Amino acid sequence: MICMNNSELKKLISRQKSNYSLDQEFYVSQHIFDLDIKNIFSKQWVFVGHISRIPNYGDYFLFNIGKESIIIVRDKDDSVHAHYNVCRHRGSHICLENEGNSKVLICPYHAWTYNLDGSLRGARLMDKDFNKNDWHLHKCNSQLFEGLIFINLSEHPNDFEEFIAPTKKFIEFHGLSDAKIANRQYYPTEGNWKLTLDNFHECYHCQPSHPEYCQVHDKDYIIAYGAGSNTGPASEKFDNILTEWNTKVEKMGHLTGEYYETEFNDYSRSAERTPLKEGMFTETKTGKPISKLMGKFKDYDCGYTSVGTSPFNSLLMCNDFATLFTFIPISPLYTQVELMWLVHKDAEEGKDYNLEEMKWMWDVTTIADKRIIEDNQKGVLSKKYVPGPLSQMERGLEKFKSWYLKHLENSLI
Ligand code: FES
Ligand SMILES: [Fe+2]
Repeated sequence: MICMNNSELKKLISRQKSNYSLDQEFYVSQHIFDLDIKNIFSKQWVFVGHISRIPNYGDYFLFNIGKESIIIVRDKDDSVHAHYNVCRHRGSHICLENEGNSKVLICPYHAWTYNLDGSLRGARLMDKDFNKNDWHLHKCNSQLFEGLIFINLSEHPNDFEEFIAPTKKFIEFHGLSDAKIANRQYYPTEGNWKLTLDNFHECYHCQPSHPEYCQVHDKDYIIAYGAGSNTGPASEKFDNILTEWNTKVEKMGHLTGEYYETEFNDYSRSAERTPLKEGMFTETKTGKPISKLMGKFKDYDCGYTSVGTSPFNSLLMCNDFATLFTFIPISPLYTQVELMWLVHKDAEEGKDYNLEEMKWMWDVTTIADKRIIEDNQKGVLSKKYVPGPLSQMERGLEKFKSWYLKHLENSLI
């Protein structure tokens, strides 16, 4: 099917079965992809970077999504601006490099020049009645929270405070505003964004596909919590481990608990603190502490904090480093996956941490996930693909899938 009208798409949505994967169209269609960008991605607050990526006045980077390119830039007073990368003269992209430093933004076409706050500074040979104040760059909604730069492409974005409220204390505990990027890496994935996130929302595949992940995390945790709380079958054994760990951690004055959405709403947020496998201090091969303690941790509590602020971002945090994920839908069959490893801002590579050891688990696991998703996409493209039944360990996938379908349906007037 090349293009569908709204009533055809509504019928297709109503044919989707609970606890089955989606029909092929959802994973291949350009039309559905365009609706996804407009109605799902563009309405979410998504973090696109950490402030330490632009430490100096004039530092900028581009965030590209669908047809949009956003300039994220640091101004003289350390404020961060986000502008659409579209010249107000005749529309050219202004910044062409993915990152750089510039005290003014100069359009390469006819040299209109903008201040970093987006105001127009100069435009040559315009008529006398031309008013520079009328030609400010289009502003993109942005918020800086705990060093994370969030953007929202909606014309009427949801209130940021309300959005961040349930996950706030979990992120704050890790002190990300006092962190820096130790490493940043892309994992370009030839698969639809929903196949990419289906994979991220279940840990049914973890035991067969991720021996490294299973080395760090307890088997009972993987079954019950591997893709977040309330996403796997209940495990009495893990419940007992968690209760005991909670008591210990509360005595230390550290944070415990969990959050997940209990009813359908605009968001898809989750957060929880759980213990790592016995004997592990952090998420490395040996499990030994690897860097300076971050945030409010007074000592190692051997815990793991998993936060999802939207389907497009996850924060997986140990006591001494954090791995942050951004999933960026690029086209129906292509998703950019970006990982950032954050450490305490004073930690020095080679002295306080070894980068290879720190990134080992999520690097090797994300490379494996890229392959899994690409093989999955190839099969889904076949004329013989039909949706298959989900297991008890894929409740997280089903939750994401039904959230997605309801959003898509609600957006069809
Ligand atoms: S399009 Fe930018 S100056 Fe002409
Ligand atoms: Fe995986």
